Parts: sequence; C-alpha cells; structure tokens
Amino acid sequence: MATQEEINRVIESTDMVELVSPYVKLTKQGKNYKGLCPFHNEDTPSFVVSQDKHLAHCFGCSKGGNPIQFLMDIKMIPFGEALHELAKKNGIELKEEYRPKQQQQDNSIHYEMLSTAAKFYHQNLTMTKSGKEALDYLYKRGIDDETIKTFQIGLAPAAKDSLYKVLKESNYLELNMMDLGLVEHNDQGYYDIFSRRITFPICDEQGHIVGFSARIFNNPDKTQPKYINTRDTFLYHKGQILYHLDLAKTEILRKKRFILHEGQMDVIASTYAGLKESICTMGTALTVEQAYVLKKYADHAIICYDGDKAGIAASKKAIGIFKKAGIKTHLVLLPNGLDPDEYVHTYGEAEYIKYFESHILDELEYNFETAFLNVNLEDALVVETVKNTVFEQIQRMPSQTAKEKYLALLATRLQSSLQAITIDYDAYTKVNLSTPIYDDFEDEPIHFIPEELEKPSYDYELRLFLYARHSKERALQIDKKLGDSIGAFQPINREIWIALINQYYATYEQFDDAVFCTMLNEEQKKVYLENLDKVRGSNDPYTDSDLECIFQKMHSMHFKAINKDLSNVILNSTDTEFKKKKLAEKFKNKKKSMLK
Ligand code: UTP
Ligand code: MN
Repeated sequence: MATQEEINRVIESTDMVELVSPYVKLTKQGKNYKGLCPFHNEDTPSFVVSQDKHLAHCFGCSKGGNPIQFLMDIKMIPFGEALHELAKKNGIELKEEYRPKQQQQDNSIHYEMLSTAAKFYHQNLTMTKSGKEALDYLYKRGIDDETIKTFQIGLAPAAKDSLYKVLKESNYLELNMMDLGLVEHNDQGYYDIFSRRITFPICDEQGHIVGFSARIFNNPDKTQPKYINTRDTFLYHKGQILYHLDLAKTEILRKKRFILHEGQMDVIASTYAGLKESICTMGTALTVEQAYVLKKYADHAIICYDGDKAGIAASKKAIGIFKKAGIKTHLVLLPNGLDPDEYVHTYGEAEYIKYFESHILDELEYNFETAFLNVNLEDALVVETVKNTVFEQIQRMPSQTAKEKYLALLATRLQSSLQAITIDYDAYTKVNLSTPIYDDFEDEPIHFIPEELEKPSYDYELRLFLYARHSKERALQIDKKLGDSIGAFQPINREIWIALINQYYATYEQFDDAVFCTMLNEEQKKVYLENLDKVRGSNDPYTDSDLECIFQKMHSMHFKAINKDLSNVILNSTDTEFKKKKLAEKFKNKKKSMLK
C-alpha cells in the first residue's frame, strides 16, 4: 500500500472545492464554501467545504472528511481506488502500485433501491386504478393474482419520472440510480428507463433483485421493442444471470434437472403448471458461465425452446455449451410451433405436463424431428432435401445400430421402403465426404439485442492475471492447467505471462507489482498496468468454477485459432488427399476443444 507520506501528498494537492463542485452547488461564505449536503436531504445548506484545510463536513449528518473520504462516499468506491483516482488527477506517481483488495463490497443500499423500485411497480399494478388495464392484460394471458405476487410482477407508470421521484424521496443518490440502470439523465433532467411497461424483477442466485425486464402491452406503436431489459450494470450481467433460478434451485436439486426456456413468460407458465425447475436467460444465447452456474445444482438439462428456426439454432448451440460443461442434455419440442406459455393456455396445465414428460428427446431424436419441421412432404424436392439433411446426421452417428434405427425411422416417415432408403443412403455417402459439423459457440444473441451492446463481459486473460497475482502456488497451478491454450493469449500478454511464471515466480514467493514491473520492458509494463486498471474494482470473488470456465474458453479459443488457419490451408489446396488429412486434423482439434 501507499505510504502515509504519499497519502498526505494526494490530500494536500487536491482542490476540495473543485472536487465537490460537480456534486454540490457551492457558494462562498467567508473563508469557506457552503452548499446542500449530497449525503442527506436538506433545505438549508449545512455542508461546509474548507479549501485550505482540504476538508468537507456536513453539520447535519456529519458526513465528509478529506478528499479521499469524500470521493469514497460519493462514488461508493474503496479507499485504494479513490486514492489512485486523485493521485492520477493531480499527476502524483504512487511509488507502489495500488493493489485492489479482494474485499466484498457492501451492496446493501443498491439492493434496497432495486427492491424499492420493484415494490413501487408491484403496488402500482395491483393497488392503483391506473394498474387496471395492465392487470386485465395479464389476466387475459392466464396470469392470476397469486402468480403476480410470486413473480412480483409490476407496472412502470406512464409518467416519465415516477420511479425517480420515489427514489429521490427516499434520499437515494442519483448516481446510484443511474449505476443500477433505473434512471437516466438528459437536458430536461432525470427520467425513468422503464415507463408504461409491465415489469418483471430479475433476481440473482441469492434472490436479490438486480434488474428488470419490462414488456410492452396494448401499445399500437409497433416500432417499440417487445421487451426492454436492464442494461449490464455492476450487479446485472446478462451473460451470467438466469431468471427464476433463485426460486427454482430447490426444485432443481430435488429433481436433479433444470428446464431451460426461451423467455420469462414461458418460465412463468411452466412453473405455474408445476414444472418449478424452469429458468431462462434474458433474451440472449446461453453462455458457458451460465452453464457452470447451473451445474452447481444439477447436471441434466432439458431445453424447451420454440420450434421455429431461431429456436432450433439456439437449441443446438445450447447443447454444445452444455456438453462443454459436462451437462447431459435432453430437449422438448412442443407441437405446432407453440411456446410453453401458449401451450399451457391452449390445452391446460395437465395436458402440458403430460406432453412434456412423454416427449423428452435426446439429441439424435431432436435432430431427426426438427428435420421434418415446417416442411411440406408433398413436394418431391423438399423430400430430397429432408432426406439429405437426415443422411448427413446419420453419417455422423457413431454406432451402426443407431444408423440402422434412423434409416428405418426415415423410411417410415417418408413412407418408403427401407431398401430404397438404404440404396439412397449408400449413394449419398459415396459422394459426400463425412465432414463433422463445425459449429462455433460464439455467444450470439438469440433476440433483438443490438450488436454493439453484445460485448464479452470479461476479458479472460486479464482475469487470469488477477488470479495469478494472488500467490505463487495459484499462478503455477493456472499455468499448468492452461498448457497450450496460452496460444490463445494476445501476444503481448503472452510475453507478460511468461515473465510472470518463468522469471518472477522463479525468484519470488510473494507477489509485488512494483518488483514485477522491473522485469518488464516499457511496452510490456504499459500494457500490464493498463490491464490492471481494467480489472481493478472487479471484485467478484475467485471461485474454482470461475477458473474452470475461463480455461474452457481459452482452450476452445486456442483450437479455434488453429482451425481457422487449417481452414485456410484446406481452402487453398487442390490436393484431395492432403485436404482430407487436414480435415481430419481439424475434426480432432474440434473434439479436443470440446472435451477438456
Ligand atoms: P419471444 O419473442 O419469444 O417472447 O422472446 P415470449 O417469451 O414468447 O414473450 P410473450 O409471450 O410474447 O410475452 C423470448 C425472450 O426474448 C427476450 C425476452 O427475454 C423474451 O422473454 N426478448 C424478446 C427481448 O429481450 N427483447 C425483445 O424485444 C423480445
Ligand atoms: Mn410467448
């Protein structure tokens, strides 16, 4: 940590008036400055700033202190971060690099605010006249009072700033409202993110509300998106959150399985019907992180996405992700393109459960079934396409028994003889080289999320550095586990990593940034310090499943990079034998990238 002398230097070089001004309108009074306290609600100013003493103090609530204390309180950041920020601002170089502590930040105020918002929306829906129209909409969709209560469904009022006013009245800071993605600011002032929408609170695993999903209803404006979800905040990461997991986890543990749906309406309908182990992601494709979260509770997934094109593609990606995480997967395909919500409200709960439990397909069965979806078998050309699709799948099946079973099934479906199908299949395999499907598991959005918002939430390499600084033992363990995947690092980060393992930890037991930096050249040092800046403040506690998930990602990125090169080689070659060899190599890499 920084020395007392360095801390004093930072305090003394900070202009307290300049620091406080963005938050408080100050007026000069004698030697001091005075304004309305930013930490509590008041009508007469009792917040006093002394420029030459480098102090601020509120005579009402006693908050304040030196510049570092003020910044910590107003931004709700830890000491080191405030110190670092002020040092940087005043051009002071701290001799020792500030090291972020792995301390758990206290988020209780934030949780309180989100819960206040949820209560406000819920009461507005259930206890006011203005909630009637939304309530009728929900009733029409088969959602009753009990469900509304269980899921804390609410209504964001039509006024632009109703939530803002409620939170302001409770003395919460605007800064926090904005950090939580509840409120925004423009020339006209503060305004709510959600208005005139039905709200669904989204909880983390422990049941704290961390965000909202809000659905449009009875709105003739067709240009508006159906759902708006909270943007990513320090509490809400859409790539990690799973809707309803907090309430579903007991049932998941009991049944040793979970059901992955496409949207929250499906989760609600399915839960209502009795499948309480239902969860969903928030409008985005399943991520490896989410798979590992789920694996803590059960290693058996049942995917129940829509039977449309997008749903099928998303299901196949989800299967890949679950495989990587070592989760066994089944799928349910509802008839006539219905989603669970529509099915429950068309045929009733009992029928839904009956259909669901008796139509749990494995991957082969699912692929076979989806080949026949939305196609017209009256059309001879379509039949040929379907046949080829199924042949392609059969060709990839590992066992002869499975191949025969599906050839027979195909014959039945197409009302053809097994003999004819077998002849066609043999002809097919003669002209089609068996190429394993090369599907990559990018975290693509399923729905409507604009591309520029789809950034990876973490930089894996940087997190590994963060973990490796913890101890020598941890660093060597990570390095061993990483193996060849180090190839997936950015070149400069690879250099830094090698210096860390081969040079630094070969000499020292304890980690020290300052000493480590002496082992780096200028460019490496610059990048390293930038890296630290990026991960600073990310206080998510290190866990084994976190690390495991990063290894998987690095491992698969490594092989993807190799395979990309191989693809080019194959594309540029005219030698068929060589191509086949490279293709086989590629397949092996693909398998390796999934197996680990
Ligand atoms: P769907 O369009 O399938 O909606 O989106 P749904 O679940 O059937 O909803 P209802 O029945 O029409 O009310 C599935 C999920 O994709 C996300 C939401 O999480 C939704 O539940 N989504 C959808 C968005 O994030 N934004 C959108 O504009 C639409
Ligand atoms: Mn629906």
